[in-house]
Amino acid sequence: MTTPTPPTRRSGRVVVLASGAGSTLAAMLAAQEDPTYPARVVAVVSDRATAPALDRARAAGLATAVVVPRDFPDRAAWDAAVAEAVDVFSPDLVVLAGFMRVLGTPFVERFAGRALNTHPSLLPAFPGAHAVRDALAYGVRLSGCTVHLVDAGLDSGPVLAQAAVPVRDGDDEDALRARIQQVERDLVVDVVGRVAAEGVTVDGRRATFGRPGPR
Ligand code: GAR
Repeated sequence: MTTPTPPTRRSGRVVVLASGAGSTLAAMLAAQEDPTYPARVVAVVSDRATAPALDRARAAGLATAVVVPRDFPDRAAWDAAVAEAVDVFSPDLVVLAGFMRVLGTPFVERFAGRALNTHPSLLPAFPGAHAVRDALAYGVRLSGCTVHLVDAGLDSGPVLAQAAVPVRDGDDEDALRARIQQVERDLVVDVVGRVAAEGVTVDGRRATFGRPGPR
C-alpha cells in the first residue's frame, strides 16, 4: 500500500528546460498571452548555448541560463548546477520541453512532484532520444506523446496525460514527428495549466490532477 503525497502548491511560476528548437516553449508562451491561463514561464535554462529555444526566450523578454555539461568535472556537478540555475527563479513547476538529457537524483529530489517532461511516444514504449524513429522502426500503428512527472530514470516517471497519434502508411520520421508535436504542444499547454491550477497527487505510479479523491 502506498500513501498519497500531498498535492503540490497551486501556483504557476514555470521554468522551462530546453535543448532544441523550442516549439513547445513557443506554445506555452502563446498560451500565457491569455491572462486567465494559470501558468507563466519565467525563465528558460538550457544545456546548449546555441539552442534556438534560448533565442525564443530572449525575444519574449525572459531570463535565460546555460549550463553546459563540459564545463563541469562530472555529471553530478552538472546536475547540481542545473538544479541551482533553475532554483534561482523560484519555480512552482519545472517543465522539460525538448530537454535531451537525463537529470540525476539531486535535481529530481529537489523538484520532486513539480517537474514535468514531455516525450514523443506513448510511454513506456520507446523512451530515449529517438522515440519517433524507434516507433516507426518497430512498426507500431499508433504512437503519440506523454507528459509525465520526472524521476531519476529515462522517461520513466508517473504519467499525467497521453494523446494518441495514428501512424499513416508512408510516414517517415519527419512526417510522424510533425503530427505528434502538433498534438503534443496542446497537451503540454493543457497539462501545465492544470497542474498550475489544481496541483498533482502521486500515489505510487498513479499521478492525478488535484487533491486525492475518496479512497
Ligand atoms: C518534443 O517532441 C519532445 O517530446 C521532445 O522534443 C520535442 C520538443 O522539441 N523531447 C524528447 O524527445 C525528450 N526525450 P522543441 O520544443 O525544442 O521544439
